[in-house]
Amino acid sequence: MVIRVPTGIKGFDELVGGGFIPSSAVMIGGKAGTGKTLFCAQFLYTGALYYREPGIYVTLEERVEDIRQDIKDTFGWSLDELENRRLLFWLPLRIRRVWHPTEKREVLSMGFYQITQKIIEAIDNVRAKRIVIDPLSAVEMMYEDKYMVRSELVTLLDALKERGVVTLFVAEIPETESGLSRSEFLEFIADAVIKLDFLYLAKEYQRTITIKKMRRSKHSTLIHPFLIGPNGIEVLKV
Ligand SMILES: Nc1ncnc2c1ncn2[C@@H]1O[C@H](COP(=O)(O)OP(=O)(O)OP(=O)(O)O)[C@@H](O)[C@H]1O
Ligand SMILES: [Mg+2]
Repeated sequence: MVIRVPTGIKGFDELVGGGFIPSSAVMIGGKAGTGKTLFCAQFLYTGALYYREPGIYVTLEERVEDIRQDIKDTFGWSLDELENRRLLFWLPLRIRRVWHPTEKREVLSMGFYQITQKIIEAIDNVRAKRIVIDPLSAVEMMYEDKYMVRSELVTLLDALKERGVVTLFVAEIPETESGLSRSEFLEFIADAVIKLDFLYLAKEYQRTITIKKMRRSKHSTLIHPFLIGPNGIEVLKV
């Protein structure tokens, strides 16, 4: 039996055989505001605080300060101490359009290759065991060359696995789509796919979590409601 990597999210680990598989890539998919960032943050917090596993939060869109504040306001967790103990790191990689003076046109400030390099470098520097990339789906919109994006994504996830890291990557699902993330491809390359949603169940809207896929694991296939509570997320039994 492989030892699992616990999320520490109340009620969740028992749905997936104790946690995530070591050296795996997990997609956290969901529409806007469904709790993706909070889920990922709790995964890193648990690793750092209870298992002394260094974690890196790579943010591709949101400001680090905003995420830190959300975590503090929602869960009451101040992250300073874990940051000072070098157990929690932030890696903001916000890609902008910049003017290229010789080509005389706007180009992206960073190529995907550089994103991959920066993430790998950070992992090697701090010997991270857990990493979050939020939202990975953003890179697909930024770069026109879809084939390059696909091959770079596979290269990135392989490199993370080789380093024994558990990766949670966020995939944004537009409101109009029925279930699959913007890129179905992300679901196929993930070892596990977790879906967060906001559904009308038993006469009210509830936040829900579903495990859509988890390689090498028996897992719950039910729709589980969850709460965003003052001490973290709590997944309810059904
Ligand atoms: N204290 C709280 N109690 C209940 N719900 C809360 C609380 N704090 C935040 N929330 C909910 O959590 C949501 C934000 O969660 P989070 O930022 O993780 O979502 P997200 O899926 O990452 O969103 P986005 O797609 O915009 O990045 C808010 O929309 C809010 O409804
Ligand atoms: Mg978010």
